[in-house]
Amino acid sequence: MLNSIGLQNPGVDAVIAKYAGVWAGWRVPVIVNVAGESVAEYVEVVRRLDGQPGIAGIELNISCPNVGRGGLQFAIDPEGAGSVTAAVRRATDLPLLVKLSPNVADVRPIARAVADAGADALTAVNTLSGIAVAPGRQRPLLGNVFGGLSGPAIKPVALRIVYEVAQSVDIPIVAIGGVTELADVLDYLAVGAVAIQVGTAIFADATLPVRLVDQLADECRRRGLGSYRPLVGTALPGRPGPSSARGVEYRP
Ligand SMILES: Cc1cc2nc3c(=O)[nH]c(=O)nc-3n(C[C@H](O)[C@H](O)[C@H](O)COP(=O)(O)O)c2cc1C
Repeated sequence: MLNSIGLQNPGVDAVIAKYAGVWAGWRVPVIVNVAGESVAEYVEVVRRLDGQPGIAGIELNISCPNVGRGGLQFAIDPEGAGSVTAAVRRATDLPLLVKLSPNVADVRPIARAVADAGADALTAVNTLSGIAVAPGRQRPLLGNVFGGLSGPAIKPVALRIVYEVAQSVDIPIVAIGGVTELADVLDYLAVGAVAIQVGTAIFADATLPVRLVDQLADECRRRGLGSYRPLVGTALPGRPGPSSARGVEYRP
């Protein structure tokens, strides 16, 4: 999918008024994805969410233009990503995930800056920047020219980023990108993720995440495992830790 829907949402006050109370009655915790155009805006939104029943955690979408830095995304360098993470960290004790962008030359220093700034976990990855040309082939298809590419096409890129990040930080990694079946979940666990999200595929089947949880439990039983934990990191060259020289050399 190549989408440019923007960050369609009803706004933080409506989320609190209409949804948080409903979420409080659910058996699963709800993590709210937060966007902003300045550090102050992220902090303000998170302050309002903090302490509301039904909101179990915050995930920062840092693939947003920072108006104060000429529209450069927070996610593209360690300074931008680290500073927004640090400011939000000071504003909340809720579990804080920070979502990495794949549209960078080297994600590892960015991941380290976010971890050093106090994030509890990293999410990897957001959509890949892409464009399409309109039928007739004379102009860009999307009004915003650029869209976000998602779905199975991006899985190898997302896997590579999770693989790199898992060797660069000690905090947990939540993987997302092109998951449609159990094999994808197993792949992400193997490169070091401890949890998996499903995006595009839920447009086709909203129940997929629930089935994947059941299938993963079945797979663990089939392998004689009491938990999925032994599956985490099996494809990594070494134990998760500081970035290795081998990781630096590996540039296909
Ligand atoms: C229609 C659509 C809307 C999205 N909105 C957001 C968003 O608001 N915040 C965010 O961090 N990521 C957003 N994403 C990115 C997804 O959460 C996910 O990182 C990306 O699509 C890759 O995963 P997937 O291949 O499973 O979709 C959106 C993706 C799509 C397709």
